[in-house]
Amino acid sequence: MIADLMDKIINADCLTVLKQLPDKSIDLILTDPPYGINVSKSVYNVEAGQKRSHNAKAVAGTYKHADWDSAIPAKEYFDEMERVAKHRIIFGGNYFTEYLKPSSGWIFWDKNNGSNDFGDGELAWTDFNKAIRKYQYTWNGMLQQDMKNKEVRIHPTQKPVGLLMQILRDYSDAGWLVMDPFSGSGSTAIACERWGLPFICVERDIDYYKASVERLNDERKQLNLFNGRY
Ligand SMILES: C[S@@+](CC[C@H](N)C(=O)[O-])C[C@H]1O[C@@H](n2cnc3c(N)ncnc32)[C@H](O)[C@@H]1O
Repeated sequence: MIADLMDKIINADCLTVLKQLPDKSIDLILTDPPYGINVSKSVYNVEAGQKRSHNAKAVAGTYKHADWDSAIPAKEYFDEMERVAKHRIIFGGNYFTEYLKPSSGWIFWDKNNGSNDFGDGELAWTDFNKAIRKYQYTWNGMLQQDMKNKEVRIHPTQKPVGLLMQILRDYSDAGWLVMDPFSGSGSTAIACERWGLPFICVERDIDYYKASVERLNDERKQLNLFNGRY
């Protein structure tokens, strides 16, 4: 059953997938649920280098307008993630404190944003009994950590593959089955693919689903070209 879901991005409401999974069958959930802050209404045209605008029409065309970020997921989603996973890393954990236990093991992602009115970074809650860790990974408008291999941005809250690879390097072991129930652009799938980790990703929005599958297929072609894993 799990084998049928593996190494794919699935187009579904993740609750239906989570409910099919046995207790503690996933080694690590690495995910980034909607924060409930309507991010897609404050569209941000990265490629054109435009600053954040609260008028979506002003920068229409980069990311589609969608309602996926109008509310955080219900408690049932967090309960199911806890049931199926041995470990969880949840970006935006500061928006979900009512559903997550106190933890020593938070992650701070420093985006190297410089001095402007954007936040300095983002927080991820983890259930690891570790100290707080900081990852510095530039992701600031046109600026990216790896300017020679810039990532195409297809989602307004896309996480850099390089950042997720560093987190997986430090928080997973060989062969771990990783799940991202809110996978967006598919960055988690690509990071797993590069490390050779099995994964299950789920994205409900049909357009993000299609774009992320295309991104994953491109990645697989590249990996084949270089004859195997990184
Ligand atoms: C914060 S974004 C994730 C972005 C992702 N980390 C990336 O790097 O692109 C959350 C995503 O969850 C999706 N989503 C929201 N509710 C969902 C659900 N119930 N099941 C599956 N996907 C869902 C949204 O369409 C959105 O793309």
